[in-house]
Amino acid sequence: MEIVILPGSKQIGALAADAVEDLLRRKPDAVLGLATGSSPLPVYDELARRHEQDGLDFSRAHGFALDEYVGLEPGHPQSYREVIRREFTDRVNIAPENVHSPDGSAADIPAACEAYEEAIKAAGGVDLQLLGVGTDGHIGFNEPGSSLVSRTRIKSLIEQTRRDNSRFFKSIHDVPHHVLTQGLGTIMDARHVILIATGAQKAQAVRDLVEGPVAAICAASVLQMHPHATILVDEAAASSLRLADYYRHTYDNKPGWQGL
Ligand code: GLP
Repeated sequence: MEIVILPGSKQIGALAADAVEDLLRRKPDAVLGLATGSSPLPVYDELARRHEQDGLDFSRAHGFALDEYVGLEPGHPQSYREVIRREFTDRVNIAPENVHSPDGSAADIPAACEAYEEAIKAAGGVDLQLLGVGTDGHIGFNEPGSSLVSRTRIKSLIEQTRRDNSRFFKSIHDVPHHVLTQGLGTIMDARHVILIATGAQKAQAVRDLVEGPVAAICAASVLQMHPHATILVDEAAASSLRLADYYRHTYDNKPGWQGL
């Protein structure tokens, strides 16, 4: 696990966008894992800018969303399919048919989850997975207690997550109780994961996931077992890390050839 502490969202967005750009130049048909929430927005803004100004090409890329609410009507502005379209994929030249999300309105939910796993596999697996983290340490919508080897499935949201996410809805009563999410095992299969956390409200989750035990109570801690996990945090999100100085020193003295 590599921890990179940066001054703010702009630098985080640029560094994560560098990783996406390097990947696309190496592998134009790369598979990107796409997260929602506020944390990845600076990355999407920067990628959209590079597409527009520098011609960064997504025409052969594929995208898979991490998760989706269950029960929102198709086209609901807060469904993650719509959010990802609006915030990212409509702003670059990725083919709409190459962008997938779990079907939260499926009549047969287990079958939809299995089909999603199959689709990821058929695309060759996720090359680079972008992640945020919930204040309770969830990634995707893998709430505390999630199996560390879980696959895409239905989950119930914890009240705190519904409260956190109610800012996107008219009221907390409109936030669904159920969601579909890639499992922790699914996320762990991605070849590289980049988790982004900003702000003091994420400090505890960051401490738990980076320096706590690997335990389902903090789902994101499973990333300690990932061979290539990068954690990008601002100073506020890093403020509870015990080894912050070590992470800073390590990054500042990193061999230039290593990349992220
Ligand atoms: C939601 C999403 C997560 C995201 C989390 C944090 O619950 N399902 O994928 O990481 O919110 O969101 P934010 O980045 O807005 O804090």
